Amino acid sequence: MKLLSIETSCDDTAITIMDIKGGIENASFKILANASNSQIKIHAEYGGVYPMLAKKAHIENLPILLEEVLKKSKLSKNKKPVDAIAVTYGPGLEPALWTGIVFAKELAEKWNVPLIPVNHMEGHILSVFGKDKGKFTIPKIKTPMLSLLVSGGHTELVLTKKWMQYKIIGETLDDAAGEAFDKVARMMDLPYPGGPKISKLAEEARAGKEKFLEGLSQADGALERKALPNTFAQVRTQPDASQKYIGSAKKFLLPRPMMYSKNFDFSFSGLKTAVLYLIRKIGKLDDELKAQIALEFENAVVETLIHKTLKAKEKYKAQTIIVAGGVACNKHLQREMKKVLGKTTKLLFPIKELTGDNSIMIGMAGYLQYIKNKRKVPKISNIKAKGNLSF
Ligand code: KG4
Ligand code: ZN
Repeated sequence: MKLLSIETSCDDTAITIMDIKGGIENASFKILANASNSQIKIHAEYGGVYPMLAKKAHIENLPILLEEVLKKSKLSKNKKPVDAIAVTYGPGLEPALWTGIVFAKELAEKWNVPLIPVNHMEGHILSVFGKDKGKFTIPKIKTPMLSLLVSGGHTELVLTKKWMQYKIIGETLDDAAGEAFDKVARMMDLPYPGGPKISKLAEEARAGKEKFLEGLSQADGALERKALPNTFAQVRTQPDASQKYIGSAKKFLLPRPMMYSKNFDFSFSGLKTAVLYLIRKIGKLDDELKAQIALEFENAVVETLIHKTLKAKEKYKAQTIIVAGGVACNKHLQREMKKVLGKTTKLLFPIKELTGDNSIMIGMAGYLQYIKNKRKVPKISNIKAKGNLSF
């Protein structure tokens, strides 16, 4: 069947048309057209996503992108070009979500096709199986599967015991990981979105660490010196193990909040505040200091994410681990995850093009839900935006 999918939950407007076949465990997808419009430039001056501007931009973008994907797929909008429509209904910014939903409802009514509401987070999980052009399939996955979802709005660990069933086993109690990257970047006058910029600085600092970063941090010690253990039993579990790395003038250490808590929850706001105090204490930041802070901050986030994921992996005996969402393209996170998981666990990341928000993943999740629910969909009038939608 041909499916048109729409994503407008945050600052990306995106529409995809795919031709899809198969059941929920062997679906195969062919992308006919994919078009998107990022609003990064619009929001950059505010240092974050401004919901009313996002809404305005989505409303402007949607009809343009629709024309584009129909043209690329050689389909006519007057002749019921697709068999169904999938749209993100949450979680996300409600004014932004509504723009996609209203647009999708109008099309579904006009073409008389089913409208499938999609959970954006399920989209992120499935994004690891996608491509941004051509064909792809969803292979059979070994469960239990654990998904670490890290984006600007979310940080959660989701357990899948049976394919397409999701249970949140841990989540952030305050800021999301991506949000922390963005806020720390803003403290250092780096442009929005901060994740890529901080990550670039941290990578540069890591590469040139002999110059000025020697013994910089606890994570530097744990993650960099080939000492990162490959089983959880070997991971440091005593908070005081870090103390030996605190030392002389140029070295500073940021906290790893909740790293040793007994649950799988995260917290990044204390880390963000620690960066704020550190910056205040230092006074004027030069490029070298910014790079050092970026490195230590990234180490702290990555170390916490990995620690909790490993702990959950051990507890639930996960066979497959998925890392998805905007922060999943972080190089350090990818590298260290690969290192600690070794070859025994299947580790999946999305391709770079699908780490951020996109409508390909929405089409994938929409199709699988549609098939799983035996092609039953809610009444169009009952589909509403749910900003806080959870699994
Ligand atoms: O999934 P996404 O595109 O949008 C949301 O649904 O939030 O994620 C965007 C987030 C932003 O906070 C951005 O700073 C972060 O992902 N991000 C990164 C990197 N690239 C993007 N964070 C860390 N390292 C990166 N390389
Ligand atoms: Zn997202």
